[in-house]
Amino acid sequence: MKSLKYLFTIALIALFFVGCKYDFIVPEEVPVIDPDDPDAEEISFSADIIPIFESKCVACHKTGGQLPDLSAANAFSSLNSTRYINSSTPEESLIYTRPNPDNTDSHPKYSATEAVYVLGWIQQGAKNN
Ligand code: HEC
Repeated sequence: MKSLKYLFTIALIALFFVGCKYDFIVPEEVPVIDPDDPDAEEISFSADIIPIFESKCVACHKTGGQLPDLSAANAFSSLNSTRYINSSTPEESLIYTRPNPDNTDSHPKYSATEAVYVLGWIQQGAKNN
């Protein structure tokens, strides 16, 4: 009976330490790029957008593959058309809407941060910078 008590006490102490362990799930910190802020970060097509295409898109959207061709060499000229870029309503640009994380279909998606960058790039004039 006594050893049971000890066991119980030890278990309680152990629970005290183990039970209070939290695994924090840090949510993705999505940047905000205000199109009306002249001091907003300038998004670079070559440094910010091309790497997104390379990591997530060129497996299919490569030269001679699925259109648009998003390979580093051809991405800008492929996208530089009203089919993909809607400069008056950037949120409606196909290059932003088709892989949008809000879509529920099976086409690959941008992460929330990548979507902010692609939209920001269009809002800043979709430059070949
Ligand atoms: C697994 C292959 C695959 C990957 C990876 C992929 N796509 Fe696609 N994408 C397709 C296919 C197939 C279509 C055509 C059918 C459709 O619209 O769903 C398409 C269509 C599109 C369209 C519309 C083209 C048009 O002219 O109508 C855009 C824009 C697009 N993808 C952008 C992207 C971007 C940006 C990425 C990377 C985030 C990406 N895709 C990743 C397969 C892929």
